[in-house]
Amino acid sequence: MTDTHSTNADFSPSFYRRKARRYAQVAHDYLQSVYIDASVSGLTDDLVLLTRAKGLSPGNRSLDAGCGAGARDVFTLWSDGWDAYGVDAIPENIEVAREWHAEIADRVSVADISQPLAFDDESFDLVLCNAVIQHIPHRLTLDVTLPEFVRVLRPGGILQLMFKHGKGTLTLFDPDYGERRAFLLYNEREILSMLSGLGMELVEVDNSTGLGGIMYLTDTKGAAHCAFHARKRG
Ligand SMILES: C[S@@+](CC[C@H](N)C(=O)[O-])C[C@H]1O[C@@H](n2cnc3c(N)ncnc32)[C@H](O)[C@@H]1O
Repeated sequence: MTDTHSTNADFSPSFYRRKARRYAQVAHDYLQSVYIDASVSGLTDDLVLLTRAKGLSPGNRSLDAGCGAGARDVFTLWSDGWDAYGVDAIPENIEVAREWHAEIADRVSVADISQPLAFDDESFDLVLCNAVIQHIPHRLTLDVTLPEFVRVLRPGGILQLMFKHGKGTLTLFDPDYGERRAFLLYNEREILSMLSGLGMELVEVDNSTGLGGIMYLTDTKGAAHCAFHARKRG
């Protein structure tokens, strides 16, 4: 059950603190990673997008910005031979990642991506940011977070951005956690226009897979998302 409204809501760092272990379990079991509806027939789940991002990336150094409790995708990429890193604002999320995946303990760290990143210019081939800007005020996303992603990407590097789209705020009851949650919504055209001004271009549709362009999907909670890959020019 979803509803949208424009009032302020609790974007809830406390949710992630309290639910870090449960979040890691839900993520690692891919419980909320399957899409119930998508604009592209082959776009069935998170792994499809990740595989596409890997294929587009010019190299194998990656940053998962807002990697979540347990840092599932950092571990997946690292297991696949990638020089993978992840950051998340919530210390409990990083603690769980280090507990569950000791091999990547020094590759995950606490950082707020609404602030400048502590990584060098042009140091990553791939930046992933999935379902995170929904927790960051619009102004900071546009003024800091997205420009920082572009800064740390190498020329030719790929940004995978997934976010809940629409206007205002979405609140819903999340059955996997037994709680109501709230998310800020974004306008995909505004984001793309801003990224274009920073030197990024949308990766267009690949005819063999149908993946590319602006892709739309609905998650298991009934929330409408937008996802795309964009490449840094140069
Ligand atoms: C819905 S989860 C998504 C996690 C992961 N990207 C995934 O796709 O499973 C949102 C994550 O964003 C993190 N987050 C929210 N605001 C953040 C910020 N300003 N900086 C870094 N991480 C943030 C939360 O702690 C949480 O782990």
